[in-house]
Amino acid sequence: MANRLPVDRREGSWEPSPGGLVSALAPVVSAHRGAWIGWAGIHDEDVEPFEFDGMSLFPVALSHDEHHQYYEGFSNATLWPLYHDLIVAPQYHRPWWKAYYAVNSRFAEAVIAVAAHGATVWVHDYHLQLVPDMIRAQRPDVQIGFFNHIPFPPVEQFAQLPWRDSILNGLLSADVIGFQRESDATNFQQSCLRLLGTSCEHRRTKIGVYPISIDVDEVLRATESEAVNEVARRFRSDLGDPATLILGVDRLDYTKGILHRLHAFEELLEDGLLDPKETCFVQIAVPSREGIDAYQDLRDEVERLVGHINGRFGTLDRSVVHYFHRSYSADSTIALYLAADVLLVTSLRDGMNLVAKEFVTARQGRAGALVLSEFAGAADELRQAVLVNPHDITGLKHAIHQAAIIRPEDARARIATMAATVGDYDVHQWARDFLDDLQPATAPADC
Ligand code: G6P
Repeated sequence: MANRLPVDRREGSWEPSPGGLVSALAPVVSAHRGAWIGWAGIHDEDVEPFEFDGMSLFPVALSHDEHHQYYEGFSNATLWPLYHDLIVAPQYHRPWWKAYYAVNSRFAEAVIAVAAHGATVWVHDYHLQLVPDMIRAQRPDVQIGFFNHIPFPPVEQFAQLPWRDSILNGLLSADVIGFQRESDATNFQQSCLRLLGTSCEHRRTKIGVYPISIDVDEVLRATESEAVNEVARRFRSDLGDPATLILGVDRLDYTKGILHRLHAFEELLEDGLLDPKETCFVQIAVPSREGIDAYQDLRDEVERLVGHINGRFGTLDRSVVHYFHRSYSADSTIALYLAADVLLVTSLRDGMNLVAKEFVTARQGRAGALVLSEFAGAADELRQAVLVNPHDITGLKHAIHQAAIIRPEDARARIATMAATVGDYDVHQWARDFLDDLQPATAPADC
């Protein structure tokens, strides 16, 4: 179960919903023919359970107020910034907490109603941290796993949260709690010790690190498709066949460092290190959480900066930044990876970043350079990327320039190593590792 179902209703039909969680989990749930409990993306409407792509989907309804207080409020204006290094200030409002509690109980009730005796229940992400304890109270027979897709903050930051003890206790009723990076697991364990005075071992909760991955076969299938390759060629020729095509693909979120990369790009043009006649930068910004002020402010700033750069360096027949505020299908996104020379992942903080893993997989056997923030979970594995601290604009400029002029043999070798790393641990292996640890025989193992 996760806050969102893997589909959203757009113009009357069901389309895949955005974000790394859905793209990683949907293939796993389909392969297990599992049930997925989540919100259908529309408020004030009851949707009956339905089948989609081999999954049984059980919609949980949210009212307009709950959407505002639980989803936009507590989940995405309190927890999201608190768990992402306080890039914007988290807001603490008691009515939002009440709504978070109420919606978490509704999700727990939905699981309790659907789960067979002894079932395995896998709860995902920061929206549902109270659910493990709420299920455990009524269903001692089920195995409960929780996976946190986003970072877990250091105790000094987490301690700000007025409801910190309830969150920790909510999670500790799971049999297994999984994190993306070692540092997230350590932060969680320190919070339990320092704030609750208890260890995970004492609570018989296993803590594990499971870096999430992608469906490698699905990406490779797309890269082999003639139609996808044709779209990739067309993208490049529509852009005027630039010598260097730089790409960014992100939800429009302040955690992604989109402004930082635009500033660095502008300075590279200004310094003459990139030629505006031969370089173009394509930024896909997938609309996200548009009801929240910080997201609206970010959109305004990004769009102003894109206009400013094009105003300075574009010509009548050529923009230097191509910005698209919309979502792209999986195949179109892969066509963009095939068309591009350089991918920029400049997150200020990111649980994993699956775009980075998709790019190196799609470029397998080809050249291509990945500029990757050291603050993204993927940086633990993709060591052959050009690693950057995105706050250091001079360093970021250097990294983008280095990626733009990398020798093709060097680029190909780095991609090959990174693609092999991802190929050795795809999303199915990730799920198997987690679910194996969740089996009863191993559940009360070491912490
Ligand atoms: C991140 C979160 C997911 C979330 C996704 C999209 O990947 O970890 O839980 O679903 O962003 O955000 P949204 O608010 O649209 O669900």
